[in-house]
Amino acid sequence: MRTFLFCTSFLFYAAFVSGSLFSESISPNFTASYYQFIDNKGAFLLSRNNGTFEVAIFNPGGQTNFYLCVIHVASGTIIWSANADAPISSSGKMDLTVHGISIADEDGSLKWSTPPLRSPVHALHLTEMGNLVLLDQFNGSLWESFHFPTDTIVIGQRLPEGAMLSSAVSTNNLSTGDYRLAITDSDAILQWKGQAYWKLSMDDRAYTNANYVVEYMAINRTGLFLFSHNGSAVVIQMSLSPSDFRIAQLDASGHFIIRRFSGSDGEQEFVGPINGCQIPLVCGRIGLCVAAQSNGPTCSCPQGFHEVSQNSSGCVPSGSSLPLACYSTKNGSQLNSSALSYSMLGFGMDYFAIDFSEPVRYGVNLSVCQEFCTSDCSCLAIFYDNSSGSCYALENDLGSIISSTTYEDDMLGYIKVIVGAPSDVHNTYSSQSQQFPVIALVLLPFTGLLLMVVLGFLWWRRRKVSNREIKLGHASSLSSGDLDSFYIPGLPQRFDLEELEVATDNFKTQIGSGGFGAVYKGTLPDKSVVAVKKITSLGVQGKKEFCTEIAVIGSIHHVNLVKLRGFCAQGRQRLLVYEYMNRGSLDKTLFGSGPVLEWQERFEIALGTARGLAYLHTGCEQKIIHCDVKPENILLHDQFQAKISDFGLSKLLSPEQSSLFTTMRGTRGYLAPEWLTNSAISEKTDVYSFGMVLLELVSGRKNCSTRTQSHSMDNSNSGGGQSTSSSGSGVVYFPLLALDMHEQGRYMELADPRLEGRVTSEEVEKLVRVALCCVHEEPSWRPNMVNVVGMLEGSIPLGQPRVESLNFLRFYGRRFAEASMIKEENGQSDFMLFPQANDSTTTTTSESHVCFSYISSQQISGPR
Ligand SMILES: *[C@@H]1O[C@H](CO)[C@@H](O)[C@H](O)[C@H]1NC(C)=O
Ligand SMILES: *[C@@H]1O[C@H](CO)[C@@H](O)[C@H](O)[C@H]1NC(C)=O
Ligand SMILES: *[C@@H]1O[C@H](CO)[C@@H](O)[C@H](O)[C@H]1NC(C)=O
Ligand SMILES: *[C@@H]1O[C@H](CO)[C@@H](O)[C@H](O)[C@H]1NC(C)=O
Ligand SMILES: *[C@@H]1O[C@H](CO)[C@@H](O)[C@H](O)[C@H]1NC(C)=O
Ligand SMILES: *[C@@H]1O[C@H](CO)[C@@H](O)[C@H](O)[C@H]1NC(C)=O
Ligand SMILES: *[C@@H]1O[C@H](CO)[C@@H](O)[C@H](O)[C@H]1NC(C)=O
Ligand SMILES: *[C@@H]1O[C@H](CO)[C@@H](O)[C@H](O)[C@H]1NC(C)=O
Ligand SMILES: *[C@@H]1O[C@H](CO)[C@@H](O)[C@H](O)[C@H]1NC(C)=O
Ligand SMILES: *[C@@H]1O[C@H](CO)[C@@H](O)[C@H](O)[C@H]1NC(C)=O
Ligand SMILES: *[C@@H]1O[C@H](CO)[C@@H](O)[C@H](O)[C@H]1NC(C)=O
Repeated sequence: MRTFLFCTSFLFYAAFVSGSLFSESISPNFTASYYQFIDNKGAFLLSRNNGTFEVAIFNPGGQTNFYLCVIHVASGTIIWSANADAPISSSGKMDLTVHGISIADEDGSLKWSTPPLRSPVHALHLTEMGNLVLLDQFNGSLWESFHFPTDTIVIGQRLPEGAMLSSAVSTNNLSTGDYRLAITDSDAILQWKGQAYWKLSMDDRAYTNANYVVEYMAINRTGLFLFSHNGSAVVIQMSLSPSDFRIAQLDASGHFIIRRFSGSDGEQEFVGPINGCQIPLVCGRIGLCVAAQSNGPTCSCPQGFHEVSQNSSGCVPSGSSLPLACYSTKNGSQLNSSALSYSMLGFGMDYFAIDFSEPVRYGVNLSVCQEFCTSDCSCLAIFYDNSSGSCYALENDLGSIISSTTYEDDMLGYIKVIVGAPSDVHNTYSSQSQQFPVIALVLLPFTGLLLMVVLGFLWWRRRKVSNREIKLGHASSLSSGDLDSFYIPGLPQRFDLEELEVATDNFKTQIGSGGFGAVYKGTLPDKSVVAVKKITSLGVQGKKEFCTEIAVIGSIHHVNLVKLRGFCAQGRQRLLVYEYMNRGSLDKTLFGSGPVLEWQERFEIALGTARGLAYLHTGCEQKIIHCDVKPENILLHDQFQAKISDFGLSKLLSPEQSSLFTTMRGTRGYLAPEWLTNSAISEKTDVYSFGMVLLELVSGRKNCSTRTQSHSMDNSNSGGGQSTSSSGSGVVYFPLLALDMHEQGRYMELADPRLEGRVTSEEVEKLVRVALCCVHEEPSWRPNMVNVVGMLEGSIPLGQPRVESLNFLRFYGRRFAEASMIKEENGQSDFMLFPQANDSTTTTTSESHVCFSYISSQQISGPR
């Protein structure tokens, strides 16, 4: 009846259609209370698209607190609420005036209002997207609910960088809870009390497209995206199957959930994190979470702890109590630090935030780590990585502990406790523990033992399971929650870290070290010999991202490419298992003091390497640019069969490192000039490096070595002294010498003198001409690798080097000679013209220090 009176007296364009109100706009003055619209369950605005959304004064769960909400009608999802932290009673009112919206309780006390507006309100409008907008008289927006998101975004809404979603306390209590989804300039991060527990970029289902600064997050009909450049560039994307409508919500339990709707049926299509144990409070404070295969996580208490109550709101230490963060500032608890102790959490423990946080101390021992925590009252626990000496402090609050399914890390967790705490120290966590009957204390040592036995058994079973997975070649020994969503076809064999430790005798025999880490020799149980590369120069990286690349590398099979046998991705460890090459790398054979490589062998190596590169560039589904072709990465097998190693690894670099990668990958002496200019890196970059390797095969020495050219002078009548490439000190930049000799047709002078003439001028000419074509400064003038193979095989005619694109070698040669002289004078062992060239990813040998293909673009353009 009241509804009827109200509507007729104000004469809105609202109309009754079988008891429903159909209007998407109202004008001031307007007042609404729950009772006025009780027939519509408090709803007084409906969006035009058949009422997909409504605005209502609503009490979720039928309780006594009322909120002004925008609701997705079909699913009953509250997509926005005005007075989330200040609910009103059933008699409270919403007022729309020319000054905006205000919400007051029945006694007239103001609970919420819109901020001051720049002009008078003409209308309140609910859009078809679900956006509640205050409009001025020109239909200009004065205020929009989309700009003040609560825990949800919908299609059409943008969550800008710096903004966040905040969870509700529970489904019915919309007060701001403890979980946040924050948009940073590079990611979307879930946090609990400042501790991160999930990142979009690290989720298995998300892909990082670009390194731009994020401007906002949005969902549309085909997925969730982090956008840059005003929406024209995607930074991170997660594709979802097309759907007309979807809602993304940070729910009260800390899950970020996306649901799609076709008609009225909603379907959950995404949840992050997928592993239930990564939810901060899944088992309460210090509760121990074990990821179960099917029924979700199970909770217990770590040894030495017991449950606060049967409802598992967490665990407290037995026989001691937990400090409050910064308790010492509270009255009456001036605790002396000798009362503090650390309760160890047993083995194989992890904490959700550790993957996302930085250690507070590096390379320290455990006592230093504990001292740090003792001296900082906000520190409540530490995790200590025994292998690296990294010390992680957990501050301000503690969540659940994760029982790590893989014993990959030497992580030791310690909870700070107060021993013999004075009874006047109020302890919020353990207040209920006093109710524990004495009998429990008597039984504790026994139950502790029992718990250990049970946990031990569980651990043993888990090990068996994960071993079986390995035998089956399954894709995962991750936390079991990931198992289903994590299968990547083509993934090579997955090894357990322990297996590789056994195989390599604890990484005893190091056989090399490359840009990505050290390589160790190992023997697998089937007696096959392998080379195990322990990757150290990668950041913390999503396992799926890693495995996707591994699947690509592992699926590449070519006789001239080193085969990837398998890999290991456990925790922070990344290892690659390759077939072992019994004759080592080309640099050792070619530049070493062993038996000299015969010409035919050199030619076979050149041809094999060219075929391997041609396959990487054109033979695979996905073009792979090696980026670091050099003798160290060309491995030799029986009969000097060449096999290229380290291909595909450049994609494993983390985004932070990939900017480094674009300037720094590759090795001085083999780097093409375009690395230094802004031109694109392409497969022609590998062609350049291959040309440099060819020249080294011809001469038997490093292009950049400072060895004098005396042998060449012995072989020639005129002597190298006339050559523009030689300085007075007899230092020669070999690529320039090759150009000079090519112009003069004196190829024999370029051949390795150790061959003592067991090669013809025609044979040398072939390699030198191919090499010079490969090192053209202009990438498009370099042949592709398929043509290089053709020229070497003789099936296509030899190319003619173009001197105009080789003149840069003269400049390199001059700098090379100058630097060599300075080096001699100063006795410097590593002269670098360009100190910003951080060489961390390259392998240098003493002979390759002075090398000037690594030069800035201005310096290159100088002499032209
Ligand atoms: C709205 O209410 C205010 C007082 O609250 C009054 O001054 C104003 O005239 C009213 N406007 C309309 C359009 O009724
Ligand atoms: C509204 O519903 C009718 C019938 O159910 C349908 O034909 C129409 O397309 C709908 N309109 C919108 C905007 O959803
Ligand atoms: C504002 O929008 C409404 C509905 O779309 C329209 O009827 C009205 O003419 C518009 N007013 C102005 C000033 O554009
Ligand atoms: C809702 O949660 C807040 C914060 O935890 C609490 O203060 C308030 O009492 C709760 N309200 C209800 C009705 O439970
Ligand atoms: C969603 O956004 C992405 C990224 O801009 C775009 O490629 C895609 O076409 C959009 N989907 C729809 C249905 O508009
Ligand atoms: C961003 O794009 C919108 C349309 O998508 C356009 O109206 C706006 O002017 C653009 N802003 C900038 C700064 O380019
Ligand atoms: C545990 O929770 C249930 C409902 O979830 C409640 O009925 C029960 O009283 C609780 N028990 C304790 C000991 O808190
Ligand atoms: C600490 O004690 C002083 C007086 O003893 C009191 O005024 C103050 O409010 C107390 N502070 C706290 C945080 O309890
Ligand atoms: C701390 O307590 C120990 C004994 O519990 C005592 O010997 C020591 O003097 C105390 N230190 C301080 C600073 O109160
Ligand atoms: C830990 O390191 C500190 C400082 O480096 C040293 O003083 C202390 O003796 C070490 N403690 C142990 C147990 O090794
Ligand atoms: C930590 O590492 C050291 C050697 O680095 C070893 O002796 C010690 O047993 C390890 N501690 C634990 C608890 O694993």
